[in-house]
Amino acid sequence: MADDVLLKTDLKGLTLKGRGKVRDIYDLGDSLLIIATDRISAFDYIMPNGIPDKGKILNGLSLFWFDFTKDIIKNHIMTSDVSAYPRELEQYRNMLRGRSMIVTKAKPFAAECVVRGYLSGSGWKEYRETGRICGISIKPGFVESDKLPEPIFTPSTKAAAGHDENIDLKRFEEVVGKKYASSIIERTISIYRKAYEYAYTRGIIISDTKFEFGLTGKGELIIIDEMLTPDSSRFWSIADYRPGGPQKSFDKQFLRDWLESIHWNKKPPTPVLPDEIVKKTREKYLEAYVRITGRDLQ
Ligand SMILES: Nc1ncnc2c1ncn2[C@@H]1O[C@H](COP(=O)(O)OP(=O)(O)OP(=O)(O)O)[C@@H](O)[C@H]1O
Ligand SMILES: [Mg+2]
Repeated sequence: MADDVLLKTDLKGLTLKGRGKVRDIYDLGDSLLIIATDRISAFDYIMPNGIPDKGKILNGLSLFWFDFTKDIIKNHIMTSDVSAYPRELEQYRNMLRGRSMIVTKAKPFAAECVVRGYLSGSGWKEYRETGRICGISIKPGFVESDKLPEPIFTPSTKAAAGHDENIDLKRFEEVVGKKYASSIIERTISIYRKAYEYAYTRGIIISDTKFEFGLTGKGELIIIDEMLTPDSSRFWSIADYRPGGPQKSFDKQFLRDWLESIHWNKKPPTPVLPDEIVKKTREKYLEAYVRITGRDLQ
């Protein structure tokens, strides 16, 4: 199975636009090819070994959610059918099948559109210190991981390096422009609500998530990047949910616990993951996929 892990792509004759922690992106002119590899990160570092099928799971989840929310906003997906990919990609079809998508190239807005239904991570930290998140007042008395009365929009900057920084709504409006701000906010909340309700029926709490929006060449507002994957969201299991402290990550808990157990100093070199951790982590990603899509991974 380890043979099936894809850690990095190198498509000859194509223009690599960027490599994220997980995805490799190629520029095809008016469109982009987004390939989800099997890389996994923890504590901001990419681990040396991958998780079999993770790329396919992430790609499949994004495709599921983009389709699920297409009544709320148009998205960047053009095709994920490798037989419809351009000729120049023909020799890579087997590698690309199931783990890639061709998308409309957009001009991304320079803000991460974060929506939170629960108090966790940097949101919890800000609330605890100031009683506010991104300038929004939240009533006192909540404990860590509590559900908020309503989901809130808590944008951040897209930092080229280092951590994203939370910004208030005024700053958000300046970054994306008055013309688009309210419709981006409305869409973000609507998508979150719809996905949250659905995932809840499948045993998963989507605590918070992050979307990116962009403008097409024709000036149309669309949603881009990935959607509602465990990499862009916090997924919790309803069965394990206990407010009053941090929650177990649905997908990365085995990995994080193991890294803590070996007292890794969270600096390079990153430790090689034992087979057992790889296997258990793969099972969690797969479980998220099956629960949400209701399908097995092909
Ligand atoms: N349709 C699109 N048009 C233009 N840019 C896009 C589109 N979809 C996604 N992008 C951009 O592609 C990039 C995806 O990068 P990716 O998320 O893989 O890595 P990263 O954000 O640099 O790092 P990380 O892995 O930590 O998220 C983002 O900058 C995103 O804005
Ligand atoms: Mg990213």
